[in-house]
Amino acid sequence: MEINELRAKFKKIFGREGAAVFFAPGRANLIGEHTDYNGGHVFPCALTFGTYLAASKRQDGKINFYSLNFEDDGIISADISEIKKGGNWADYPKGVVAMFKEDGHILNCGFDALYYGDVPNGAGLSSSASIEVVTAAMINDFYNLGYNLIELAKISQRAENGFVGMNCGIMDQFASAMGKKDNAMLLDCNTLEYSYCPIALQGVSILIANTNNNHKLTGSEYNTRRSQCEEALKLLQSKYKVNYLCELKPADLEKGKDLISDEVLYRRARHAVEENARTLEAVALLKKGDIAAFGKLMDASHESLKNNYEVTGKALDTMADALHKCEGVIGARMMGGGFGGCCIALVKNEFLEEVQNKAGAEYEAEMGIKPSFYVAQIGSGAKKI
Ligand code: GLA
Repeated sequence: MEINELRAKFKKIFGREGAAVFFAPGRANLIGEHTDYNGGHVFPCALTFGTYLAASKRQDGKINFYSLNFEDDGIISADISEIKKGGNWADYPKGVVAMFKEDGHILNCGFDALYYGDVPNGAGLSSSASIEVVTAAMINDFYNLGYNLIELAKISQRAENGFVGMNCGIMDQFASAMGKKDNAMLLDCNTLEYSYCPIALQGVSILIANTNNNHKLTGSEYNTRRSQCEEALKLLQSKYKVNYLCELKPADLEKGKDLISDEVLYRRARHAVEENARTLEAVALLKKGDIAAFGKLMDASHESLKNNYEVTGKALDTMADALHKCEGVIGARMMGGGFGGCCIALVKNEFLEEVQNKAGAEYEAEMGIKPSFYVAQIGSGAKKI
């Protein structure tokens, strides 16, 4: 959508001119899944699609939210002095307001906010993180709060953890806030140290395959995985002085195997520790230009998410299998929280169309759902337009 069109919609809905416009992107993750809340590494990038926000301050203490993606919900209003959950999409921006208040900021007036997202909702491309980050960027700007982009990512994550109730890690919000055009970022989620890595894939594209299978389970199962990792960590801490699972090397975990008698817990820990090692190895390989070996590690990541972490499910496995069978696919894996949403694949350009046709047909025949495909462009992070 054109920015002027968004401003015109703002005028139509809120009856005022002069809205400022902000943007925050969705993200893809090349490798490093379910490592962020285990203090490990991730390798995400921002996408060129995300959430636009047109907003303007009000004279009174009212906050009005409207989304062009959820028009049936109409205007959702709140009073800045009393932010309550409503069980709808506006809980994401409301959570951000609540966290700024928790930080002791007195927002002396309300605002009208119109959202439009071109990132598909619930597809595991971080539409929710992009809503949080774009809201945080707007509030930071309007009320002169002086947060930097990393602080905006952190407050957005707190909104999701503390207000929405999803115990996500920092990856999505960090990628949305800090993304850099044509670069992925290697982020150490323990220290938040990061470095950009140019993604100049010669003759290869990043293909995102959306299973169009909703991922309702994500919230509850996600939080369960997270607490299983915490349980495994506690057991390992009797031998190792670590604060996070991903501080361990795969060999350490192997040596500590007897400490975890529950084999499910052991597999969860194994995924986190090995995925972290895989991520570091993958980035090193990419820097050397060995895309083929990078792709193999993406495949291994999927296997582990399927067998050790058990967050794939039929739709993602069917799509990943279909992709793996196609000529021209260098590597493919599920992406994000799991249970539905998207796979990510590296595909040789000359096979891009064929892969979408073949994998799409195979997936549809098995699942009875038509998938969607996007060739990802890597964009930059949150900004005022
Ligand atoms: C979701 C969460 C992230 C991360 C991924 C899995 O996207 O929001 O914090 O844990 O799942 O890697």
